[in-house]
Amino acid sequence: MAAGFFISKTLGIVGIVLGIGAVATIIALSVVYSEEKNRNTAAVSVPSTTPSGAAPSSGAASTTPPTSGPSGPPQPWNRWRLPDSLKPLNYTVTLHPFLEPNDQGLYIFKGNSTVIFECRAATNLVLLHSKKLNYTNQGSFLASLQGLEGAHTPAINRSWLEPETQYLVLTLMEPLVAGRRYQLFSTFVGELADDLAGFYHSKYMEGNVTKVVATTQMQAADARKAFPCFDEPAMKATFEVTLIYPLNHTALSNMLPQSSRQQVVDGVTRNIVTFHRTPPMSTYLLAFIVSEFTSVDNQTDNLLVRIWGRPKAIAEGQGTYALEVTGPILRFFENHYNTSYPLPKSDQVALPDFNAGAMENWGLVTYRENSLLFDSRFSSIGNKDRVVTVIAHELAHQWFGNLVTLRWWNDLWLNEGFASYVEYLGADAAEPTWRIKDLMVLNDVYRVMEVDALASSHPLTFREDEINTPAQISEVFDSISYSKGASVLRMLSAFLTEDRFKRGLQSYLHTFEYGNTVYNDLWTHLQMVVDADKFSLPDSIKNIMDRWTLQMGFPVVTVDTTTGSISQKHFLLDPMSVVDRPSQFQYTWIVPITWRTTTGIEQTYWLTETTATNPSFQVSQPNWLLLNLDVKGYFRVNYDTQNWNRLLAQLSSDPQVIPVINRAQIIDDAFNLARAKYVQVELALNTTRFLQKETEYLPWTAALNNLAYFQLMFDRSEVFGPMQSYVQKQVNPLFNHYKTITSNWTTIPGGLMDQYNEINAISTACSYGIPECLELATALFNQWKANSTNNPIHPNLRSSIYCSAIATGGEAAWAFGWQMFLEAPVVAEADKLRSALACSQEPWILNRYLEYALDPSKIRKQDATSTINSIARNVVGQTLAWNFIRGNWATLFQQWGGGSFSFSGLIQSVTRRFSTEFELKELEQFKADNMNVGFGSGTRALEQALERTKANIKWVQENKQPVLAWFKSETS
Ligand SMILES: *[C@@H]1O[C@H](CO)[C@@H](O)[C@H](O)[C@H]1NC(C)=O
Ligand SMILES: *[C@@H]1O[C@H](CO)[C@@H](O)[C@H](O)[C@H]1NC(C)=O
Ligand SMILES: *[C@@H]1O[C@H](CO)[C@@H](O)[C@H](O)[C@H]1NC(C)=O
Ligand SMILES: [Zn+2]
Repeated sequence: MAAGFFISKTLGIVGIVLGIGAVATIIALSVVYSEEKNRNTAAVSVPSTTPSGAAPSSGAASTTPPTSGPSGPPQPWNRWRLPDSLKPLNYTVTLHPFLEPNDQGLYIFKGNSTVIFECRAATNLVLLHSKKLNYTNQGSFLASLQGLEGAHTPAINRSWLEPETQYLVLTLMEPLVAGRRYQLFSTFVGELADDLAGFYHSKYMEGNVTKVVATTQMQAADARKAFPCFDEPAMKATFEVTLIYPLNHTALSNMLPQSSRQQVVDGVTRNIVTFHRTPPMSTYLLAFIVSEFTSVDNQTDNLLVRIWGRPKAIAEGQGTYALEVTGPILRFFENHYNTSYPLPKSDQVALPDFNAGAMENWGLVTYRENSLLFDSRFSSIGNKDRVVTVIAHELAHQWFGNLVTLRWWNDLWLNEGFASYVEYLGADAAEPTWRIKDLMVLNDVYRVMEVDALASSHPLTFREDEINTPAQISEVFDSISYSKGASVLRMLSAFLTEDRFKRGLQSYLHTFEYGNTVYNDLWTHLQMVVDADKFSLPDSIKNIMDRWTLQMGFPVVTVDTTTGSISQKHFLLDPMSVVDRPSQFQYTWIVPITWRTTTGIEQTYWLTETTATNPSFQVSQPNWLLLNLDVKGYFRVNYDTQNWNRLLAQLSSDPQVIPVINRAQIIDDAFNLARAKYVQVELALNTTRFLQKETEYLPWTAALNNLAYFQLMFDRSEVFGPMQSYVQKQVNPLFNHYKTITSNWTTIPGGLMDQYNEINAISTACSYGIPECLELATALFNQWKANSTNNPIHPNLRSSIYCSAIATGGEAAWAFGWQMFLEAPVVAEADKLRSALACSQEPWILNRYLEYALDPSKIRKQDATSTINSIARNVVGQTLAWNFIRGNWATLFQQWGGGSFSFSGLIQSVTRRFSTEFELKELEQFKADNMNVGFGSGTRALEQALERTKANIKWVQENKQPVLAWFKSETS
């Protein structure tokens, strides 16, 4: 699956607002970024051992189960994992979704299924997963059983459903015999709900007509909601799927059709299509879709590639970009894995309603529309970046994950970390001029370090017995699994070399195809390559990697260039935090360190102890030492002050000498080291001086991300005036650079990085109130206003320009923006306007907009919380949003408290600036006042807000004076 927080990667979300005297106002896109970081923080949690409480309603046909005494041992059907006495081989499944509600107003599907399984150890228990399915009795039982190939058929004793653990249970009068095969048949009805899980339905509008799609999301544990099955990833089997569906619709599944016909079913003529039997695969990768979608397709090298979506979107050419990049990406992975694409076709489908970013179902990948479709009239370069990387991520899984599958969800990090790493390689193959691989440092490495530097982080790996319930399984899908997994695999690939990594990977895939593995199997196959090459490493791959996967966090490596001494220490963002999770390695790592000096070439040094000395690290004026080239290693670097100053001197005289990723690293490491009190805040600020000469995206973004926190803490204080002058001074040359290379903003630069950094330039210049930028924004916006059918603003720049123009334009600009929002032809455009409308500087307009957010006739319900969040990001809107939330808590809670991610985001975003004792008191009061209403899914966010407010108070106390003095001295 592609993670939900992926979305944040796109740039050019909102910027802007300008200064009004000393209390200037800012919202920069980097604030959006830090919001995403906080969301990731919220997503990190250690699975608890309590079983999930929600027991789904049970099926009608269940009979009472035999009870085991309260003190007796738990029966197999009260445990979360299947016994391994039975192994499924082949399923034959027929499903008939109804795309119109029945008399009770329910969308349902009917189905029947046969599963052939082999008995591995004699047992008189048959246990299959089944969730929210109602069965039609076969004789007196929920299912019928039959011995195959002459095996005796044991009589069934009882059958019943276990809704809590999601089982269909059959007990037998006599045991099944080891080595023999049996088949189980059942007929059932399920709800085709709109819950985005299992077999579900979703709706979209075509003109005034509502269209219904039946589709699936099985990962992690919802195939059992479509038909009874052994729903664990290691229970691979083959599947022959038949779908019964309305005429004029299209049915898709993992394989191509083998036969189709029309037949009258229950008095209505239906299409019936049977798909080819799949190769052995896991249940969570199954998919079936019935829709009126259309496709664009091509056939290269005997492989059919199709991109599906709403007919209107496909007719407008929105699938073309995905189709263009899919071919090169598939060819890249075939070569990378040295394995042909395992299936006869590749379908990719854009769904109007979809929970995850995308899902790698084998041969039938599903996406949110914004992750597959690209419309050059409305989509920005960030949208395009997202499409190509998400496609590469999902296609990478077609081999790694689908052909070879991890045994159990505790190893999810390897599956998702791997795909999150190679998605950059696949995307690079499709867009070779973009330098997209460099983005991984900002988007994954630094982003997850923020979370992994907290004492509340957790290791990549879990023991198999720690992850049991569906709730525990879904908690494993967090940023640690995705981004830290990707970061440590990139580090491994770097120190082995990519060629060795690839050879080990190929051997792993060939050995385990159609089977299951644990993560150590990959280490074994990489080790085989290392041994064959006699490649020298300080320890085995397993021993090196265990340090990174079995303990949480990462080290800060400190080198003293006067003595050549080098040491490592667990890096904690809050130096006062207490780590109560023990580690067998005492939080030390085996660290591969690449380094170079001013004139030297790249070399590698292995830090295997807590401290060591390397004479080569002794350098002196004017030479500098630089560690962790291109940030291939997952750690931070600190130096003695002299070496920091020599690096800064290099940056100010000729920054290009230092590789571009390391220019970003120097900034990001320094700011984080300052937060953790390893260095002075002035040193961190000094790393931004050279930006006057910098035009590259990575260093700029590293700086803007870090300055975003200063903005939040100081944009209501006297620090902000000097800070604003400083940022203006730094960004002015960048603004002029882009003005020149775009011929006065009439063209768009070529590369990905340049397009992104143009957005940085405009968004920063306008949000920090550079007059020329404000005038530009207003002029472009007014040009649009004069002829609303012809928008002269390039999609890349719309978010920034809209925001700036609405901030300065008063009621007239807002009213036009609102009108355009109501008329927006696509969601991408509506979203840009919706967040820009929050940039107004008028409290009455913002208050009215807050009211709109709770009125579903104005703002769709699903967008309400993100609209309130945008308003809270605006320094003028912050207090209004806080008061609004305090005043409407009961209503808000009723609407969203249940369990959505966005609800905790609401609390986070309104409290983000809190940094005074007074605000802390307000927050505590809010908590006390609403105890009776409750905070639902925002409970954790509220606790974090209290904690963060305290940390902010402390940080501001300690840093306000030095920061004020520094900004003043830089601008005087
Ligand atoms: C049933 O599954 C087994 C094991 O996956 C496979 O070898 C066999 O070919 C399958 N049978 C059919 C009819 O596909
Ligand atoms: C399963 O259902 C379909 C459609 O109702 C029917 O044609 C088929 O015969 C059923 N399969 C079995 C084994 O009864
Ligand atoms: C399954 O049975 C329950 C209990 O009778 C009923 O409430 C539910 O609507 C049924 N589901 C379907 C899809 O028919
Ligand atoms: Zn994935």
